[in-house]
Amino acid sequence: MNKQTLLAPLKTKNLDLRNRVVMAPMTRSRADNPENAPSAEMQGEYYAQRASAGLIITEGSQVSEKAVGYINTPGIHTEEQTKGWKDVVEKVHEKGGTIFCQLWHVGRISHPDFHNGELPLAPSALNPNAQSYTPQGMKDTVTPKEMSKEDIDQTIQDFVQAAKHAVTAGFDGIEIHSSNGYLFHQFFNGTSNHRTDAYGGSIENRSRFLFEVLEAVQTEIPIQKVGLRLNPSLNGIFGMMMDEQTIPTFDYIIAKLNDYDLAYLHLSEPFNDVSELPFAETQIAKRYRPIYKGALMINAGFDQKKGNEVIEAGDADMVAYGKPYISNPDLVERFAEGVELSDWDGDTFYTPGKKGFIDYERKTTPMYQ
Ligand SMILES: Cc1cc2nc3c(=O)[nH]c(=O)nc-3n(C[C@H](O)[C@H](O)[C@H](O)COP(=O)(O)O)c2cc1C
Repeated sequence: MNKQTLLAPLKTKNLDLRNRVVMAPMTRSRADNPENAPSAEMQGEYYAQRASAGLIITEGSQVSEKAVGYINTPGIHTEEQTKGWKDVVEKVHEKGGTIFCQLWHVGRISHPDFHNGELPLAPSALNPNAQSYTPQGMKDTVTPKEMSKEDIDQTIQDFVQAAKHAVTAGFDGIEIHSSNGYLFHQFFNGTSNHRTDAYGGSIENRSRFLFEVLEAVQTEIPIQKVGLRLNPSLNGIFGMMMDEQTIPTFDYIIAKLNDYDLAYLHLSEPFNDVSELPFAETQIAKRYRPIYKGALMINAGFDQKKGNEVIEAGDADMVAYGKPYISNPDLVERFAEGVELSDWDGDTFYTPGKKGFIDYERKTTPMYQ
Protein backbone atom coordinates (compact mmCIF):
# COMPACT_ATOMS: atom_id res chain seq x y z
CA MET A 1 0.00 0.00 0.00
CA ASN A 2 2.72 2.46 0.99
CA LYS A 3 4.56 1.88 -2.27
CA GLN A 4 2.11 4.42 -3.65
CA THR A 5 4.00 7.06 -5.63
CA LEU A 6 1.81 9.73 -4.02
CA LEU A 7 3.37 8.91 -0.65
CA ALA A 8 6.99 8.94 -1.82
CA PRO A 9 9.02 11.99 -0.80
CA LEU A 10 9.74 14.56 -3.48
CA LYS A 11 13.22 16.03 -3.63
CA THR A 12 13.88 18.47 -6.43
CA LYS A 13 16.42 21.24 -6.70
CA ASN A 14 14.00 23.62 -4.98
CA LEU A 15 11.60 21.40 -3.03
CA ASP A 16 12.01 18.86 -0.25
CA LEU A 17 8.56 17.43 0.49
CA ARG A 18 7.72 14.42 2.62
CA ASN A 19 5.10 13.24 0.14
CA ARG A 20 3.51 14.33 -3.13
CA VAL A 21 0.01 15.01 -1.82
CA VAL A 22 -0.65 18.76 -1.94
CA MET A 23 -3.50 20.66 -0.33
CA ALA A 24 -4.87 22.85 -3.14
CA PRO A 25 -5.59 26.52 -2.43
CA MET A 26 -9.16 26.99 -1.26
CA THR A 27 -10.97 30.13 -0.21
CA ARG A 28 -12.88 29.45 3.00
CA SER A 29 -14.00 32.98 3.96
CA ARG A 30 -13.33 32.62 7.69
CA ALA A 31 -11.37 35.87 8.15
CA ASP A 32 -14.55 37.54 9.40
CA ASN A 33 -12.92 40.34 11.37
CA PRO A 34 -12.57 44.02 10.42
CA GLU A 35 -8.91 43.53 9.43
CA ASN A 36 -9.56 40.39 7.36
CA ALA A 37 -6.66 38.85 9.26
CA PRO A 38 -6.18 35.10 9.72
CA SER A 39 -5.71 33.74 13.24
CA ALA A 40 -3.99 30.86 15.03
CA GLU A 41 -7.34 29.60 16.40
CA MET A 42 -9.09 29.39 13.03
CA GLN A 43 -6.82 29.25 9.95
CA GLY A 44 -3.86 28.08 12.09
CA GLU A 45 -5.84 25.16 13.47
CA TYR A 46 -7.31 24.36 10.02
CA TYR A 47 -3.97 24.20 8.24
CA ALA A 48 -2.17 22.49 11.17
CA GLN A 49 -4.81 19.73 11.05
CA ARG A 50 -3.77 19.18 7.42
CA ALA A 51 0.01 19.48 7.99
CA SER A 52 0.78 15.92 6.88
CA ALA A 53 0.28 17.09 3.28
CA GLY A 54 3.58 17.24 1.43
CA LEU A 55 2.71 20.87 0.77
CA ILE A 56 -0.14 23.15 1.80
CA ILE A 57 -1.06 26.05 -0.46
CA THR A 58 -3.18 28.54 1.44
CA GLU A 59 -6.43 30.00 0.26
CA GLY A 60 -6.05 33.01 -2.02
CA SER A 61 -4.82 35.95 0.02
CA GLN A 62 -5.40 39.39 -1.49
CA VAL A 63 -2.34 41.54 -2.17
CA SER A 64 -4.18 44.86 -1.70
CA GLU A 65 -7.62 46.27 -1.00
CA LYS A 66 -8.11 46.54 -4.75
CA ALA A 67 -7.42 42.81 -5.06
CA VAL A 68 -10.41 41.63 -3.02
CA GLY A 69 -13.60 40.22 -4.49
CA TYR A 70 -15.01 37.92 -1.82
CA ILE A 71 -16.21 38.58 1.70
CA ASN A 72 -14.04 37.54 4.66
CA THR A 73 -10.99 36.44 2.70
CA PRO A 74 -7.66 36.96 4.48
CA GLY A 75 -5.35 39.59 3.00
CA ILE A 76 -1.57 39.84 3.14
CA HIS A 77 -1.15 43.58 2.66
CA THR A 78 -1.38 44.90 6.24
CA GLU A 79 0.80 44.35 9.28
CA GLU A 80 -2.08 42.81 11.21
CA GLN A 81 -2.75 40.30 8.43
CA THR A 82 0.95 39.45 8.18
CA LYS A 83 1.10 38.89 11.93
CA GLY A 84 -1.94 36.62 11.70
CA TRP A 85 -0.31 34.59 8.94
CA LYS A 86 2.87 34.30 11.04
CA ASP A 87 0.85 32.61 13.79
CA VAL A 88 -0.72 30.29 11.20
CA VAL A 89 2.65 29.35 9.69
CA GLU A 90 4.11 28.64 13.13
CA LYS A 91 1.34 26.16 13.90
CA VAL A 92 1.93 24.33 10.61
CA HIS A 93 5.70 24.29 11.11
CA GLU A 94 5.27 22.91 14.64
CA LYS A 95 3.68 19.89 12.96
CA GLY A 96 6.51 19.59 10.47
CA GLY A 97 4.40 20.87 7.56
CA THR A 98 5.38 22.98 4.56
CA ILE A 99 3.17 25.91 3.57
CA PHE A 100 3.08 28.37 0.66
CA CYS A 101 0.88 31.47 0.57
CA GLN A 102 -1.27 31.97 -2.50
CA LEU A 103 -1.13 35.62 -3.63
CA TRP A 104 -4.36 36.73 -5.25
CA HIS A 105 -5.85 39.59 -7.22
CA VAL A 106 -9.36 39.02 -8.54
CA GLY A 107 -9.32 41.88 -11.06
CA ARG A 108 -12.84 42.34 -12.44
CA ILE A 109 -14.40 39.52 -10.36
CA SER A 110 -15.23 42.07 -7.69
CA HIS A 111 -17.71 44.82 -6.90
CA PRO A 112 -17.61 48.57 -6.07
CA ASP A 113 -18.95 47.67 -2.58
CA PHE A 114 -15.42 46.46 -1.75
CA HIS A 115 -13.77 49.64 -3.04
CA ASN A 116 -15.73 52.55 -1.52
CA GLY A 117 -17.83 52.75 -4.66
CA GLU A 118 -14.85 52.77 -7.04
CA LEU A 119 -14.73 50.35 -9.96
CA PRO A 120 -12.70 47.13 -9.77
CA LEU A 121 -9.56 47.03 -11.93
CA ALA A 122 -9.11 44.91 -15.05
CA PRO A 123 -7.07 44.85 -18.26
CA SER A 124 -10.09 46.20 -20.21
CA ALA A 125 -13.46 47.76 -19.40
CA LEU A 126 -15.38 44.56 -20.10
CA ASN A 127 -17.99 43.21 -17.68
CA PRO A 128 -17.51 39.45 -17.06
CA ASN A 129 -21.28 39.23 -16.34
CA ALA A 130 -20.50 37.12 -13.30
CA GLN A 131 -21.23 37.54 -9.60
CA SER A 132 -19.21 38.77 -6.65
CA TYR A 133 -19.73 37.56 -3.08
CA THR A 134 -20.13 40.88 -1.21
CA PRO A 135 -21.03 41.66 2.41
CA GLN A 136 -24.62 42.13 1.14
CA GLY A 137 -24.69 38.77 -0.62
CA MET A 138 -24.10 37.83 -4.24
CA LYS A 139 -24.12 40.85 -6.55
CA ASP A 140 -23.74 41.18 -10.31
CA THR A 141 -20.33 42.34 -11.46
CA VAL A 142 -20.00 45.73 -13.16
CA THR A 143 -17.94 47.04 -16.06
CA PRO A 144 -14.48 47.46 -14.49
CA LYS A 145 -11.96 50.24 -14.97
CA GLU A 146 -9.31 49.59 -17.63
CA MET A 147 -6.00 49.61 -15.78
CA SER A 148 -3.69 52.51 -16.60
CA LYS A 149 0.07 51.93 -16.78
CA GLU A 150 0.17 53.46 -13.31
CA ASP A 151 -2.41 50.92 -12.05
CA ILE A 152 -0.33 48.10 -13.54
CA ASP A 153 2.87 49.35 -11.93
CA GLN A 154 1.11 49.78 -8.59
CA THR A 155 -0.31 46.25 -8.78
CA ILE A 156 3.15 44.85 -9.49
CA GLN A 157 4.37 46.66 -6.37
CA ASP A 158 1.43 45.22 -4.42
CA PHE A 159 2.63 41.72 -5.33
CA VAL A 160 6.18 42.63 -4.32
CA GLN A 161 4.99 43.91 -0.96
CA ALA A 162 2.82 40.83 -0.43
CA ALA A 163 5.82 38.60 -1.21
CA LYS A 164 7.81 40.55 1.37
CA HIS A 165 5.04 40.03 3.92
CA ALA A 166 4.97 36.32 3.12
CA VAL A 167 8.67 36.15 3.93
CA THR A 168 8.08 38.05 7.18
CA ALA A 169 5.30 35.62 8.08
CA GLY A 170 7.75 32.72 7.63
CA PHE A 171 6.03 31.03 4.68
CA ASP A 172 8.12 28.43 2.86
CA GLY A 173 7.15 30.08 -0.41
CA ILE A 174 4.41 31.80 -2.39
CA GLU A 175 2.12 30.76 -5.21
CA ILE A 176 1.11 33.38 -7.78
CA HIS A 177 -2.58 32.85 -8.51
CA SER A 178 -2.46 33.42 -12.27
CA SER A 179 -5.39 31.11 -12.87
CA ASN A 180 -9.16 30.53 -12.81
CA GLY A 181 -10.32 33.74 -14.50
CA TYR A 182 -8.75 36.24 -12.10
CA LEU A 183 -6.50 39.21 -12.90
CA PHE A 184 -3.58 37.48 -14.66
CA HIS A 185 -5.92 35.22 -16.60
CA GLN A 186 -7.89 38.32 -17.63
CA PHE A 187 -4.69 39.63 -19.25
CA PHE A 188 -4.05 36.30 -21.03
CA ASN A 189 -7.55 35.83 -22.49
CA GLY A 190 -8.80 37.52 -25.64
CA THR A 191 -12.35 37.97 -24.35
CA SER A 192 -11.19 40.01 -21.33
CA ASN A 193 -8.18 41.81 -22.82
CA HIS A 194 -8.85 44.23 -25.68
CA ARG A 195 -5.87 46.46 -24.93
CA THR A 196 -3.88 48.02 -27.74
CA ASP A 197 -0.77 48.89 -25.69
CA ALA A 198 2.18 46.70 -24.62
CA TYR A 199 -0.19 44.53 -22.49
CA GLY A 200 -2.64 43.53 -25.23
CA GLY A 201 -2.81 42.12 -28.74
CA SER A 202 0.04 39.66 -29.23
CA ILE A 203 0.60 36.61 -27.07
CA GLU A 204 3.78 38.14 -25.78
CA ASN A 205 1.95 41.33 -24.80
CA ARG A 206 -0.90 39.52 -23.03
CA SER A 207 1.67 37.56 -21.00
CA ARG A 208 3.77 40.62 -20.14
CA PHE A 209 2.08 41.49 -16.83
CA LEU A 210 2.77 37.99 -15.44
CA PHE A 211 6.45 38.11 -16.28
CA GLU A 212 6.79 41.64 -14.93
CA VAL A 213 5.33 40.43 -11.63
CA LEU A 214 7.69 37.45 -11.59
CA GLU A 215 10.70 39.66 -12.29
CA ALA A 216 9.64 42.05 -9.54
CA VAL A 217 8.79 39.59 -6.76
CA GLN A 218 12.21 37.96 -6.95
CA THR A 219 13.66 41.09 -5.39
CA GLU A 220 11.86 40.09 -2.15
CA ILE A 221 11.74 36.31 -2.29
CA PRO A 222 14.07 33.88 -4.11
CA ILE A 223 12.46 32.67 -7.33
CA GLN A 224 13.15 29.11 -6.10
CA LYS A 225 10.40 29.70 -3.52
CA VAL A 226 7.84 30.88 -6.06
CA GLY A 227 5.17 28.60 -7.51
CA LEU A 228 2.68 29.63 -10.16
CA ARG A 229 -0.79 28.41 -11.07
CA LEU A 230 -2.38 28.18 -14.55
CA ASN A 231 -5.63 26.77 -15.89
CA PRO A 232 -5.18 26.66 -19.69
CA SER A 233 -8.53 25.08 -20.66
CA LEU A 234 -10.77 27.17 -18.42
CA ASN A 235 -13.87 27.99 -20.45
CA GLY A 236 -17.23 29.58 -19.66
CA ILE A 237 -16.25 30.59 -16.13
CA PHE A 238 -16.03 34.27 -15.11
CA GLY A 239 -16.51 35.35 -18.73
CA MET A 240 -13.44 33.46 -19.99
CA MET A 241 -14.01 31.97 -23.43
CA MET A 242 -11.31 30.00 -25.21
CA ASP A 243 -10.33 30.92 -28.76
CA GLU A 244 -7.65 29.85 -31.23
CA GLN A 245 -5.07 31.94 -29.37
CA THR A 246 -5.72 30.49 -25.92
CA ILE A 247 -3.65 27.31 -25.96
CA PRO A 248 -0.82 28.91 -27.97
CA THR A 249 -0.74 31.61 -25.27
CA PHE A 250 -0.27 29.00 -22.54
CA ASP A 251 2.27 27.14 -24.69
CA TYR A 252 4.27 30.36 -24.85
CA ILE A 253 3.94 31.16 -21.14
CA ILE A 254 4.83 27.65 -19.98
CA ALA A 255 7.85 27.37 -22.28
CA LYS A 256 9.05 30.79 -21.07
CA LEU A 257 8.63 29.74 -17.44
CA ASN A 258 11.60 27.42 -18.06
CA ASP A 259 13.73 30.58 -17.89
CA TYR A 260 12.66 30.97 -14.25
CA ASP A 261 13.89 28.53 -11.64
CA LEU A 262 10.46 28.23 -9.98
CA ALA A 263 9.57 25.98 -7.04
CA TYR A 264 6.88 24.41 -9.25
CA LEU A 265 4.26 24.96 -11.90
CA HIS A 266 0.71 24.14 -10.77
CA LEU A 267 -1.65 23.22 -13.61
CA SER A 268 -5.31 22.26 -13.62
CA GLU A 269 -7.00 19.79 -15.91
CA PRO A 270 -10.16 21.35 -17.42
CA PHE A 271 -12.77 22.26 -14.77
CA ASN A 272 -15.59 21.23 -17.11
CA ASP A 273 -16.06 19.12 -20.23
CA VAL A 274 -14.26 20.87 -23.08
CA SER A 275 -14.02 17.86 -25.39
CA GLU A 276 -16.38 19.48 -27.93
CA LEU A 277 -14.43 22.74 -28.05
CA PRO A 278 -12.14 22.94 -31.07
CA PHE A 279 -9.66 25.23 -29.29
CA ALA A 280 -9.34 23.34 -26.00
CA GLU A 281 -6.71 20.93 -24.72
CA THR A 282 -8.35 18.08 -22.84
CA GLN A 283 -5.13 16.60 -21.42
CA ILE A 284 -3.22 19.32 -19.66
CA ALA A 285 -0.59 17.26 -17.79
CA LYS A 286 0.20 15.21 -20.89
CA ARG A 287 0.55 18.30 -23.09
CA TYR A 288 2.71 20.33 -20.75
CA ARG A 289 4.92 17.70 -19.08
CA PRO A 290 7.26 17.55 -22.09
CA ILE A 291 7.31 21.37 -22.37
CA TYR A 292 7.92 22.32 -18.73
CA LYS A 293 11.27 21.24 -17.30
CA GLY A 294 10.71 21.96 -13.59
CA ALA A 295 8.51 20.34 -10.93
CA LEU A 296 4.93 19.92 -12.12
CA MET A 297 1.84 19.81 -9.91
CA ILE A 298 -1.50 18.71 -11.35
CA ASN A 299 -5.00 19.30 -9.99
CA ALA A 300 -8.72 18.94 -10.49
CA GLY A 301 -10.85 15.88 -10.04
CA PHE A 302 -8.14 13.51 -8.80
CA ASP A 303 -8.76 10.65 -6.39
CA GLN A 304 -6.15 8.37 -4.83
CA LYS A 305 -5.97 5.98 -7.78
CA LYS A 306 -5.74 8.65 -10.46
CA GLY A 307 -3.22 10.55 -8.36
CA ASN A 308 -0.88 7.57 -8.13
CA GLU A 309 -1.35 6.86 -11.83
CA VAL A 310 -0.52 10.34 -13.07
CA ILE A 311 2.75 10.31 -11.12
CA GLU A 312 3.60 6.75 -12.16
CA ALA A 313 3.00 7.71 -15.79
CA GLY A 314 5.53 10.50 -15.35
CA ASP A 315 2.99 13.19 -16.27
CA ALA A 316 3.29 15.08 -12.96
CA ASP A 317 5.42 15.14 -9.80
CA MET A 318 2.70 16.12 -7.30
CA VAL A 319 -1.09 16.11 -7.13
CA ALA A 320 -3.10 18.93 -5.54
CA TYR A 321 -6.34 17.87 -3.88
CA GLY A 322 -9.02 20.48 -3.24
CA LYS A 323 -12.43 19.35 -1.97
CA PRO A 324 -11.14 16.04 -0.54
CA TYR A 325 -8.93 18.13 1.78
CA ILE A 326 -11.89 20.06 3.15
CA SER A 327 -13.44 16.95 4.71
CA ASN A 328 -10.34 14.77 5.21
CA PRO A 329 -7.70 16.57 7.29
CA ASP A 330 -5.76 13.29 7.39
CA LEU A 331 -5.95 12.71 3.63
CA VAL A 332 -2.35 11.46 3.46
CA GLU A 333 -2.91 8.93 6.25
CA ARG A 334 -6.21 7.81 4.71
CA PHE A 335 -4.37 7.12 1.45
CA ALA A 336 -1.66 5.27 3.41
CA GLU A 337 -4.09 3.15 5.44
CA GLY A 338 -6.72 2.74 2.73
CA VAL A 339 -9.41 4.40 4.85
CA GLU A 340 -12.54 5.56 3.03
CA LEU A 341 -12.79 9.31 2.47
CA SER A 342 -15.45 11.44 4.19
CA ASP A 343 -17.78 13.59 2.07
CA TRP A 344 -17.51 17.35 2.09
CA ASP A 345 -20.43 19.64 2.92
CA GLY A 346 -20.74 22.27 0.20
CA ASP A 347 -23.08 24.35 2.36
CA THR A 348 -20.23 25.27 4.71
CA PHE A 349 -17.49 25.99 2.17
CA TYR A 350 -17.74 29.76 2.70
CA THR A 351 -19.69 30.21 5.94
CA PRO A 352 -18.19 31.79 9.06
CA GLY A 353 -17.30 29.76 12.13
CA LYS A 354 -15.77 26.41 12.96
CA LYS A 355 -18.50 24.26 11.46
CA GLY A 356 -17.34 22.65 8.22
CA PHE A 357 -13.90 24.15 8.80
CA ILE A 358 -12.05 22.67 11.75
CA ASP A 359 -14.55 20.04 12.89
CA TYR A 360 -13.93 17.31 10.29
CA GLU A 361 -12.73 14.16 12.05
CA ARG A 362 -9.45 12.31 11.66
CA LYS A 363 -9.83 8.55 11.34
CA THR A 364 -6.20 7.44 11.22
CA THR A 365 -2.93 7.40 13.10
CA PRO A 366 -0.66 10.37 12.35
CA MET A 367 2.05 9.29 9.91
CA TYR A 368 4.69 11.82 10.91
CA GLN A 369 6.03 12.72 14.39
C1 LIG B 1 -14.32 25.98 -1.67
C2 LIG B 1 -13.30 26.19 -2.77
C3 LIG B 1 -12.51 27.33 -2.77
C4 LIG B 1 -11.51 27.50 -3.73
N1 LIG B 1 -10.68 28.60 -3.67
C5 LIG B 1 -9.60 28.67 -4.47
C6 LIG B 1 -8.60 29.67 -4.27
O1 LIG B 1 -8.66 30.50 -3.34
N2 LIG B 1 -7.54 29.67 -5.11
C7 LIG B 1 -7.41 28.77 -6.13
O2 LIG B 1 -6.43 28.83 -6.87
N3 LIG B 1 -8.35 27.81 -6.34
C8 LIG B 1 -9.40 27.73 -5.52
N4 LIG B 1 -10.30 26.69 -5.67
C9 LIG B 1 -10.04 25.65 -6.69
C10 LIG B 1 -9.29 24.46 -6.06
O3 LIG B 1 -7.96 24.81 -5.74
C11 LIG B 1 -9.25 23.27 -7.05
O4 LIG B 1 -8.68 23.71 -8.25
C12 LIG B 1 -10.62 22.69 -7.32
O5 LIG B 1 -11.34 22.44 -6.13
C13 LIG B 1 -10.52 21.37 -8.12
O6 LIG B 1 -9.79 20.41 -7.38
P1 LIG B 1 -10.57 19.17 -6.66
O7 LIG B 1 -11.28 18.44 -7.76
O8 LIG B 1 -9.48 18.35 -6.05
O9 LIG B 1 -11.52 19.78 -5.67
C14 LIG B 1 -11.33 26.53 -4.75
C15 LIG B 1 -12.16 25.39 -4.75
C16 LIG B 1 -13.12 25.22 -3.77
C17 LIG B 1 -13.96 23.96 -3.77
